[in-house]
Amino acid sequence: MRTIWYMGAKTRITDSILEAVDAAAPEGRRVLDLMSGTGVVARTLADRYRVHANDVQRYAQTIASAYLEPTLGFRVDLERDLGDAFRENLAPLREALLPALALEQAYLEGFGFEASSPSVEVGPRLAWELPSAALTRARRQVPGDDKARGHAYRSFALRETPCVLEGESVRGVGAFAGFTPLLETRALAARRLDPSCFPYQLATTYYPNVYLGLRQAIEVDSLRYAIDQLRGPRAEGKRRLYLAALLHAASVATSATSHFCQPRGLVRDSEVRAVLARRALSIPSRMAAYAAEILAGQASRGGRNRTSAADWRDLYRGGIDVDAVYADPPYTADNYSRFYHVLEVLVDYDYPELSKGGKSKGRYPLLSRRHRSPFCVKRSVERELRELVLATAHRGAALVLSYGEENGLLLRTYRDRGASAREARKRFVDLARLGYQSVELRTRELLHSGQGDSNHRVTELLLVARDPRPQEADPCA
Ligand SMILES: C[S@@+](CC[C@H](N)C(=O)[O-])C[C@H]1O[C@@H](n2cnc3c(N)ncnc32)[C@H](O)[C@@H]1O
Repeated sequence: MRTIWYMGAKTRITDSILEAVDAAAPEGRRVLDLMSGTGVVARTLADRYRVHANDVQRYAQTIASAYLEPTLGFRVDLERDLGDAFRENLAPLREALLPALALEQAYLEGFGFEASSPSVEVGPRLAWELPSAALTRARRQVPGDDKARGHAYRSFALRETPCVLEGESVRGVGAFAGFTPLLETRALAARRLDPSCFPYQLATTYYPNVYLGLRQAIEVDSLRYAIDQLRGPRAEGKRRLYLAALLHAASVATSATSHFCQPRGLVRDSEVRAVLARRALSIPSRMAAYAAEILAGQASRGGRNRTSAADWRDLYRGGIDVDAVYADPPYTADNYSRFYHVLEVLVDYDYPELSKGGKSKGRYPLLSRRHRSPFCVKRSVERELRELVLATAHRGAALVLSYGEENGLLLRTYRDRGASAREARKRFVDLARLGYQSVELRTRELLHSGQGDSNHRVTELLLVARDPRPQEADPCA
């Protein structure tokens, strides 16, 4: 099963999770995937259970909903469904930014990448060529020598490309002159008041040559516009499916390593190549492929499922009606909202205010717009897990909890305070015993290839907690 690129997706252990949930709740019952991320676990569970998928991030709900709440009688056809509106949004952006687009294509060609033309897979309206005169001019500006070309591209991408700044009208110069009207403070203010202003240009003004190539950014905006224009009887379901497919395409096209944190500095020539390989990807082609995959993988009994985007406490406060909860909280101090902010922004599409006046390299929305999880903080992680256990028990549901042994913040904290690995594990199990009479710890070893430390062994822990103890107080009250 393919998913968006995601840290900690449970793709490799869905079988163990399914077995654990089977042990906690009989088939056919209702299961809540409390922090669904990519949705891969919820998708697996949906074959046997009525599934409620929740995550605090709205992009995660969009993806889960596309799989779990299918639209019947629908065939993927991007060209028919999105082609005209895509072209409508594309036209003014393409015209204004033509010299920069032509230069980007000339750089891609110079490095041996085919400038992506998706016509074969997705049809002529989603394919767009640049005029040959503009390309000829651009090709003349790109150095033939590898070293000089790398140097010139670095300057094009990092120094010359203008982006929206908070409170400042930015001027584009040279090939980027056409950006100037798009980057005026008035243009940004108007879109913040009414994000549906035409043309859609959020990715083009926030992320060009940061997280997406220029062509890709225009494609993302124009597809996002086209999705919003869908009308007709199945429009709602189509919107969910196409938006999930667009998120998937953006996720694999990221110019950062495998997420949207810390854009690459293009210091080494190998980095320039790696980034251009990503920027050569066609967003419409990728999106068409993922839309077809989502359609093929949709739950067959979708009417039984539901999705939500809430902090787990708020969801619990509103009442949950399930037999078992599968919880896969963040293991480390890294907040997901920092790594996947671009996906959240593409779902909300409301031109958020950026932190540090928009000058920060990462183009992160203000901290107040980014969810920060107590699971990611050393001093609160134990309390958060304990309260999750007690609140789930209070609601009479069984609990299956995933956690990392070596990199799990709580177990690391125990060990840092002097506990042996064995004692740390025992304290983790004891936490679940506060809420449940029957607690079993299952383990699964995996080879993990993280950045710079490939193939180290990690142990995935799965707590299976049954028979809730009667609880007087509700930690969520
Ligand atoms: C380890 S990931 C889940 C991965 C998922 N099981 C999968 O296989 O794709 C943890 C998720 O918890 C979510 N999350 C963090 N804090 C949360 C909270 N307080 N309430 C709900 N979701 C939360 C994050 O947005 C993230 O998607």
